[in-house]
Amino acid sequence: MDLNKCLLVAIAALLSIYAFCTLSSLFAESTGNVQAIVPGMLFLLGNAPAQCPEEFVDPTTEGPYYKKGSPERTNLIEEGIVGEPITLSGYVFDKNCNPVPGAWLDFWQADGKGNYDNRGYRLRGQQFTDELGKYVLRTVIPSAYPGRTSHIHVKVAKIAGEEIVTSQLYFPDRSRNARDPIFNASMVIKLDRSEDGSNRGYFNFRLNQ
Ligand SMILES: [Fe+2]
Repeated sequence: MDLNKCLLVAIAALLSIYAFCTLSSLFAESTGNVQAIVPGMLFLLGNAPAQCPEEFVDPTTEGPYYKKGSPERTNLIEEGIVGEPITLSGYVFDKNCNPVPGAWLDFWQADGKGNYDNRGYRLRGQQFTDELGKYVLRTVIPSAYPGRTSHIHVKVAKIAGEEIVTSQLYFPDRSRNARDPIFNASMVIKLDRSEDGSNRGYFNFRLNQ
């Protein structure tokens, strides 16, 4: 290949990359998606903001109400569950900001009146991230209860049963956040409302492993 052909191929390749980035950016703006910049590469991930957090998941006490063996499910809303529905979604990243497909998550929480189900498994569920490292949880917004602000408990691990990190997710602008000694600002869910008025929350986990 002579020099002119080489130059043409190089220019075509650069134009293709530019076109891809421009179209991806326009798509992201129109859909609310965000590109996650993973070392050396651009990814357009799913329907939730996919920015890798600067801070690692804050390890926190699991508290007194964790129960092993919850059902594998992404929807915790059942008949009779009290509380305002919300769809929480996000990604699990490793310490190098690579999305983790098949990561394990175990959620448990109080209902909209601040009560846990300690007999059964209501508002408790395990799940695994999809091939892009994304999870989705359909649940209700938990109420605060004596001594605690509103929170969702979670355990997360790259591989189920190995190096499990236990933490808690919080809601923004709650007056009781400041009075809760366990509250951590790096674990606050980003809240949004969809076009039909339903609650959406986003949180990305970055594991220190
Ligand atoms: Fe709790």
